[in-house]
Amino acid sequence: MKVLILAGGKGTRLWPLSRELMPKQFIRLFDSRSLFQHAVLRALKLSSPEEIFVVTNCEYRFRVLDDLAELGISLPEENLLLEPEGKNTLPAVCWGMREIQRRWREATVAVLPSDHLLHCDESLLKSFRAAEELASGYLVTFGIKPSRPHTGYGYIKPGESLGLGFRVEEFKEKPDAARAAEYVAQGYYWNSGMFVFHTELFFREVELLAPEVWQAFASSSSVEEAYAKAPEISVDYGLMEKSGRVAVVPLETYWNDLGSFDAVYEALPKGEEGNAVIVQGLGADCLLYGARGNLVISERLTAVVGVEDLIIIDTGDALLVAPRRDAQEVKKVYAELTRRK
Ligand code: GDD
Ligand code: MG
Repeated sequence: MKVLILAGGKGTRLWPLSRELMPKQFIRLFDSRSLFQHAVLRALKLSSPEEIFVVTNCEYRFRVLDDLAELGISLPEENLLLEPEGKNTLPAVCWGMREIQRRWREATVAVLPSDHLLHCDESLLKSFRAAEELASGYLVTFGIKPSRPHTGYGYIKPGESLGLGFRVEEFKEKPDAARAAEYVAQGYYWNSGMFVFHTELFFREVELLAPEVWQAFASSSSVEEAYAKAPEISVDYGLMEKSGRVAVVPLETYWNDLGSFDAVYEALPKGEEGNAVIVQGLGADCLLYGARGNLVISERLTAVVGVEDLIIIDTGDALLVAPRRDAQEVKKVYAELTRRK
């Protein structure tokens, strides 16, 4: 199976940890490796370096190369696809699939985000093998059993059994809170953000359901031209919500998309009072008195007294304080800072 790693997102809900030039996929939060490096190591369980492609923004070229070098892995230069501008995931996947099609004529491709925590165990590999079998007839997604009505994910309604997975009756990207609660009660899955596509079915569906994206590539003689013409749209809104040929393979393995600070809090080990603390840097420490349920990430000496369920992120040059329940709102700060530039 070929692999296409998506590594061009901005991670706006993790500001100030995630910055314009240091987005989420390149941050090292949980161990000495970045999330992108973990994604590459997972990809190597599915494929060999010659068959792994990375599509990212041209601004992140050196981050990608440094992270690969640190792992001692080199991909062929032509497998690094550098986007002239970010147009969200559908144009990125289209470009990657075109390059793969050009090289192998037809192929089954695992499309992997690079901003997740995901245990790569035998059950995950088994799900990928199941997806590979379904991919000639379906655009395959991977379903996660939801734990709460999160509004940042896609929701998938499983229908008729396909043996190894289910045919999808409905795919709804990022519903509002009330709708998300209904979906959880009705047994929908969360979309994990990973896909398995066969080149032939993928391009048939893109031509039919996202003709502007299809046209942008088909009518251009350069990547710059195609990106200038392509609309900004995600694979979820542009393709998965519209296609009648979607399947889902349920995933059993641990998954956390780290989409916002509440997800980061969930992923971290907690102390006695439910505080999750990461201190990084010389002299950094965290003193807690009567504090409960907080997420503290700090690069300096920090004291947290008598407060509950807060996000406190101090990167030395920027400070974020917010209730944990408003974790999704942090993207507004990023948007405002971008607007002011
Ligand atoms: N190359 C490239 N170009 N990559 C991009 C771009 C882009 O313009 N925009 C985002 N990406 C990358 C991100 O770095 C990430 O690895 C992946 O594509 C997914 O993009 P996100 O922006 O993080 O998507 P999301 O988290 O809002 O939603 C997706 O993932 C959820 C699970 O985490 C959707 O697939 C949801 O349905 C899903 O539930
Ligand atoms: Mg994401």
